[in-house]
Amino acid sequence: MTTILAIDQGTSGTKAIVVDTEDGTVAIAEEAIRPSYLPGGGVEQNPQQLLASVLTAGRRAVSMAGRPIDGVALANQGETVLAWDEATGTPLSPAIVWQDRRAESICAELTEHSEVLAQRTGLVLDPYFSAPKMAWLRRHLTRDGVVTTTDTWLVHHLTGEFVTDASTASRSLIFDLDSAAWDGQLAEMFRLGGERMPRIVASDEVVGTTRAFGQETPVAGLIVDQQAALVAEACLEQGTAKCTYGTGAFLLANTGPDAVRSSAGLTTSVAWQTAGQTLYCVDGQVYTVASAVRWLQDLGLIQSATELDSLAAADAEGVLCVPAFAGLAAPRWAPEAAASLSGMTLATRREHLVLAVLQGIAAQVTELADLVGCDVGRPLNRLRADGGLTNSAALMQAQADIAQMPVDIYPNAHATPLGAAALARCALDPAMSLEEAVGDWQPSTVYEPRWSEDRAQQFRTTWAQAATDCASKGDKP
Ligand code: G3P
Repeated sequence: MTTILAIDQGTSGTKAIVVDTEDGTVAIAEEAIRPSYLPGGGVEQNPQQLLASVLTAGRRAVSMAGRPIDGVALANQGETVLAWDEATGTPLSPAIVWQDRRAESICAELTEHSEVLAQRTGLVLDPYFSAPKMAWLRRHLTRDGVVTTTDTWLVHHLTGEFVTDASTASRSLIFDLDSAAWDGQLAEMFRLGGERMPRIVASDEVVGTTRAFGQETPVAGLIVDQQAALVAEACLEQGTAKCTYGTGAFLLANTGPDAVRSSAGLTTSVAWQTAGQTLYCVDGQVYTVASAVRWLQDLGLIQSATELDSLAAADAEGVLCVPAFAGLAAPRWAPEAAASLSGMTLATRREHLVLAVLQGIAAQVTELADLVGCDVGRPLNRLRADGGLTNSAALMQAQADIAQMPVDIYPNAHATPLGAAALARCALDPAMSLEEAVGDWQPSTVYEPRWSEDRAQQFRTTWAQAATDCASKGDKP
């Protein structure tokens, strides 16, 4: 029996589970985190709060499980960065969250290099990724210490090592996708050439040991949270795809050992490095999903996400929402785009607004699903889905209706930590294949489309026009 403490350090909170090969998930502990939303598109977290949430949730889960753990796995947000002092581990800046748009100024300076960046890294020149954020942080906050993604800092606290995994490095814009190594020339472009970069490790590598959760335990299974969910949902074959509905929604499709550059405006990243091999994925992003629901809550339109289903109208009566609350990502890449609500009359009620936001999210995911189909060479005909908002039947039904495909709900609320745990098991037992570590799953619910094809098509065309308008309104004069 192997028992893993798997920690998912996410945008809205940290979740720790203890999972073992015999009893499954035996303990869960969560710590909420509320990022600060600043004027001008800033989104920050307090690094000490991130670390405290990892230690508290991890220790609580271990104590609830009441059994020794064999390994610690960590999934991270992917593109969130901070500066810190390597000697003391002290943060020297806030954590600049992936949703933060302030590095747009850095991207604007580098537009002439966007093609070479896309070719070498598989990414689009956008403030979402970590290198523009690091460059912005260096220019505006501090030149001291090292500047890294949050995983490197957290793992340093746990083990003393200075590492990141290949999937996280591939979200930077300074990582050569084909050789799976840092690209010094691209780092120079961002004026990050002199920075000390963490060693890139595989996701099935033991990177060190920690005493943070009791006895000395190996740390392994480092990976970006979205890629971890791709593992958990057993998207291990080329062409398989999943969407995670968390703070944002992220649709990823496994492209196998080929780092296929998207012809459709999506991005390509490392899915994971295991057994000496690098696998790749294409991905599309909806930046605000739980964040959009949170906005409804902040306006007082709903009390909590659990009310979505009871409040959403059966029909939005013409109200349309493009939930671009933090800009638009693939395929429009319009960081300055803002959300829109249209089609309201005096008869519009909050029920219509609630459904319109859910439909807007589903329409964005649908657009990504179509594009993923172009890149993997065949249309997606089902969507695997996980994440907190899969609990909303109204959202999942809208997804099936608009995308015109069945949506299979992953039966466990903890896909991300389960994916990281599977990778850690492979690290601890090199004879174990990823297929064995992940196993099979059956959907807890399947949402079948109820709309006619015509209705879905009409909705998609109207919504796409509204999204294009949002993107062009974001353009600077
Ligand atoms: O790219 C950012 C994404 O991976 C964050 O995921 O779970 O924190 O919304 P989450």
